[in-house]
This record gives sequence, C-alpha cells and structure tokens, in this order.
Amino acid sequence: MTPMTPITLLFLVVSLAAAREYTDEDIASFPKLFHLDEYERCLARTDGLYCLGTFELTPATVPHPTYDLMKAYSEESYRHFNRTLIHRGYCLNLRCPLDLVTSYNASRLFERCADHYSQRSDLRASLRTLHYCRTHADFITRKPETSAEHILKQVLYALFLANLVGTIYDTYVAETAERKKNKLITAFSIPSNWRRLTFIREGGDPRQTALIPMEGVRVMALGFTTYAHASVFHFVFYTVNPEILEQVSQRIDGIILSDGTSLIQAFMMMSCFLTAYNLLIYSQKQELGIHLLPLCILKRVVRITPVHLLIVGYGATWWMYSRDGPLVSTTIGLESAACKTKFWSHFFFVNNIIDPSNFCVAPSWFLPVNMHMYIVACTFTLLLWRRRSFALRLYTVLFVASCVMTGAISYVRKYKAMTFIATPEKIHKIFRDTPSFTEFYVSSWGALPACFVGLIFAHILFELDERKIKVCDFKWFVYLHYAGFPLLFLWSLTGMFARTHESAFFMAVYIAFDRPFYCVLMAIGLLGLFHVDGPIRSFFCWDGWRSLGRMSLTVMLLHWCINSTIGARPMAFSTSVLDVFVDWSATHVLTYACAVPITVLVEFPMQKFLEALFF
Ligand SMILES: *[C@@H]1O[C@H](CO)[C@@H](O)[C@H](O)[C@H]1NC(C)=O
Ligand SMILES: *[C@@H]1O[C@H](CO)[C@@H](O)[C@H](O)[C@H]1NC(C)=O
Repeated sequence: MTPMTPITLLFLVVSLAAAREYTDEDIASFPKLFHLDEYERCLARTDGLYCLGTFELTPATVPHPTYDLMKAYSEESYRHFNRTLIHRGYCLNLRCPLDLVTSYNASRLFERCADHYSQRSDLRASLRTLHYCRTHADFITRKPETSAEHILKQVLYALFLANLVGTIYDTYVAETAERKKNKLITAFSIPSNWRRLTFIREGGDPRQTALIPMEGVRVMALGFTTYAHASVFHFVFYTVNPEILEQVSQRIDGIILSDGTSLIQAFMMMSCFLTAYNLLIYSQKQELGIHLLPLCILKRVVRITPVHLLIVGYGATWWMYSRDGPLVSTTIGLESAACKTKFWSHFFFVNNIIDPSNFCVAPSWFLPVNMHMYIVACTFTLLLWRRRSFALRLYTVLFVASCVMTGAISYVRKYKAMTFIATPEKIHKIFRDTPSFTEFYVSSWGALPACFVGLIFAHILFELDERKIKVCDFKWFVYLHYAGFPLLFLWSLTGMFARTHESAFFMAVYIAFDRPFYCVLMAIGLLGLFHVDGPIRSFFCWDGWRSLGRMSLTVMLLHWCINSTIGARPMAFSTSVLDVFVDWSATHVLTYACAVPITVLVEFPMQKFLEALFF
C-alpha cells in the first residue's frame, strides 16, 4: 500500500459528497433551455419568418463562472438536460427586424439573432441544428391532397357504407330456416358488434372463467403505460421549467416509470400464456399438430391488422394536421413521415426490425414483437402438447438460456437497461439515437424470456387444474399473492440501486434478469388472482374492465397519436406532476371515446368479415 491510499480515499469521499445540489438561483442563472415565440401571429404577417433550431453555447469571455457551472451541471447527464444546448423558435421579423434588410439568408439570420440575445449573458450561440425556417407563403399554402390521404378517405367511406348496409340488412331481413343471413354482410351490423363490446357472458369453461381478472390487470397496466407516455411527452415538447423534469428522473415515481417499462414484457408473458393455455385446453377436445400453425397465425393477423393499418394510415396522413404549431413538424412530422415509408413493414409485422430508430406511432413496436412471440408460443405448444412434463423442463432450460443470451448480447453490444438510458436528453428524443432502445428494447429476441415464462406458467396452471390442486389451500401462497403486486413496484425500485453500479458485467447481469424476473413476479400475482378468491380478485373481476379490455388494441396505438396532439402546444408550457396527470386524463378520455367507434365499426366487423371469408 502506498501512503497515497488514504488521501485518494479521502478525495473520493469528498468528490462523492461534492456531487453537488444546485440551488434554484444557480439554475435561474442559466439561459432558458427552451423558448418559442408566437407562431401563428408571426406567420400571419406577410413578412413573417419563423425558424426553429438548436444552438450550442460557448463563453464570450473567459473565465465565465456561469458557463462553467452550466457545463458541470450538464455533465450529470443521467439526470440533467445538456444546458449548453438551447432550443429556440424565433419569429425573426419581429425579434431581429434590422438584419432583414441587409442580408436575407434565413439560417445566418437566425444564428445572428440567437447570438445577439446570448451576448446579454456574455455567451456566444452557434447554430447546431436548424429544424426549419418558414415564411408567410409556406404558412398559407395549403398542401394538395396526397394519394395516401385519398386512399384513406376512400377506405373510410367504404367502411361507413359497409356498416350502413350491414346494419340495415341485419335489422330488416328476417332469418328463416332455409335462408340463412349472409355472414359477410352481417359482420358489419352495428348492434351486434356493440353487443360484442358490452355483453358480459357468464358461464363457459370454468378454467377460462377463472382467467377473467387478467383482463382487469391488463387494462390497469395499459393505464400505467399511457401515464408513462404522458410524462415522456413533457420531455419531448418544450417546457418552461425543465428542472421539474430533471427532478422527476431521480424521484421514486420517475424510477418506477422508467423501470416499470418491464410491464410491456409482462404483456408479452400474458399473451404467450393465454396462447399456450387455450391451446392446451383445446387439445383435450381435438388433436393438435403443427399443421394448425398457419391457421393460428392467420386468425391473429385478421384480428390485429385492420386496426393496426388504419391507425398507421391515419399517422401517415391526417395526424400531421391534427394540430398546428412550431413543434408539429419536428415531432409528429417525423413519425408521420416514417408511417409513409414504413407502411409495408407494418403490414408484414417487421416494423421493429426494419429501420427501428425511425418509428411510426412509437408503441406499435409491440405488435410485431407480440406476433413473433405468438408464433414461438404456438409452435412449441403445437409440437409438444402431448409431452407436457418434458415441455415444462425444456421451457425452463430455454428460459434460462434466453436470459443468459440476452445478458451476453447486451455485454458485447453494450446495451443498457431502461433505468440507465432514461435520461432527460434521451427521452427528449424518444430514444431515437439510443441503440439500447432501438436494437434491444424493441427487439423480438429480447422478449424471448418473457415468452418462456408465459409458456411455463401456462403449463403449471394446466397441471394444477388437471390434478385439482387449488393454490389457495397453501397459506404461504395466499400471503405471497397479496405481496405480489406491491413486489412489482418494489422490483422496479431496484433500478435505483442498479444505477449506482457502472461495470459492464453488472449491467449485463442486470439486463438479463431485470425484465424476466418482473414477468415471474407478475405470473405469481396472476396465479394468485386465478385461484385465490379474495378482495383483489373481486376488484379485477369488475365487468367494466372486460369491456374496456376489448378496446385495448386500439387504445394502445391511438393514445400515442392523441397524446402527442394534446402535447404539441404552440407555446412552451409549464410542467408538473399535476400537468402530466391532466394530459393523461384528457388523453384517456379522448382515446377511449375514439376507441369505441373504431372497435365497433372497424375492428370487430373486419375480423368477422375476414374470418367469414377465409374460414
Ligand atoms: C452537451 O452538448 C455539447 C455541445 O454539443 C457537447 O459538446 C457536450 O459533450 C454535451 N455534454 C454532455 C454531458 O453530453
Ligand atoms: C446561408 O448561410 C449558411 C452558412 O452561413 C450556408 O451554409 C447556406 O448555404 C446559406 N444559404 C443560402 C441560401 O445562401
């Protein structure tokens, strides 16, 4: 040991303690991070010129204590925005009018204007990214209807007409013994589809009835997801008090929100579980075989594709016009352009593989992953349904193997768990340039562990049913199941401890077990729900959950469009937990209000129609 060691140690302790807290006064001395001039008033004038861009700040004179402070503040990128970059939307003709006469190069002008204002704080601003400069002429010219818009309009007319005809036919044509109603037409009957949305069927296979509370869990989980997205949008758009967002990422609710993204894997787990479990039940009535696989896939495609393509189609066309404002083209516009170019990858369920950083309606990555996992679950079950105990052992081995594989790939490719990459700057860009998100988080292989948990869970539940074992007879399990849902939150909090570790090995181990273990906890909670007749089960058995649950597909996609339209305010706005909550509530109400007609007029009838056509 060298005599240096105690000193080095002391230095370490001091520097840890010196991870300083910044006062409100410090932060107030920084230039504003975001600013937007009035957009419509600016461009309404004939000489209107509006530019949006990002500037890099440098000190005009050295030493510059405020700049040094800004720099130190920005270094802590895990919790702070980069304050040496400022985002500005300026109305140049009103803000810096003198320059207009001398030279008319919009981007030069914009830079000089921002520089002029920065000099007040003894800083220089240089343009790093110019998003656009718009003139009055750009503002007033209406774009001609694109062919995509034309097609979407025709599709909507056709759907409307089909529903009209279907309803009239179903209401006024009487069914007689020799003449059955045409299934292709009655598929579009509004009253019958409405009943399908709202009718709560009682009875049926008791094993399937036992699963009812899962619908409630899924609706609640979707609610958490949309809440997380509502807060993401406060990072995406311009806020006047971004320091609130910087605090959120360190607070417990922020950590739960970022690590709670494992919830999406729990969705995958539940869907694989349902697939395998229903097939196992079905196998008692009929022989299964791999030849059924195409049929299974087709049934699923028929259910998902119409709504999926309708919303992607909306994204490619009218989404852009759902709001006018300075930020629309740089946020909604980006995704809308992706919807146009990636339409076919959505059709073929490969939109999470082809160009994943250029996404259209961000949550839509869930659909291809879910489809791929569905194929995996179906294939395994159709092959191994006779040999259940072998299958169970095989799935356990595959589960562990897939976790290890996830960890190994992450180690090599340096992928990080969500809790590490959920930093303000990265969320601001919706992780577009973060490989941990675009290559790992939305990948299909990353969901394999969740899928195997689902398969194992299905086999365990099936076996318990077969042997007539009720887990509620075990006291310890009843206690465990009460602890299940709180444990899910606690598990998310491990992200807080994980953050303090930086070694690549630790990251890989953490990423390998973070999401799978969450799925295991969820499976335990669900097993309790299915078997333990307690207050939690009664709560999740509420009939309303089931109706809401039937709209989940539409809600999952549409809430993103609606939330971004709400968030794309033309001015920088103030954020707080309450404001996020208000946006979330508005999004929820509007989304479910739109989801009712989409489900009744599009999803259900198209599914029935295509099934009548193919099967
Ligand atoms: C902040 O932005 C500046 C300018 O682009 C860059 O040089 C710096 O590395 C960034 N700081 C952090 C911590 O990323
Ligand atoms: C405006 O100036 C920028 C750099 O100052 C230059 O790159 C750009 O080509 C100029 N644009 C026009 C239209 O002259």
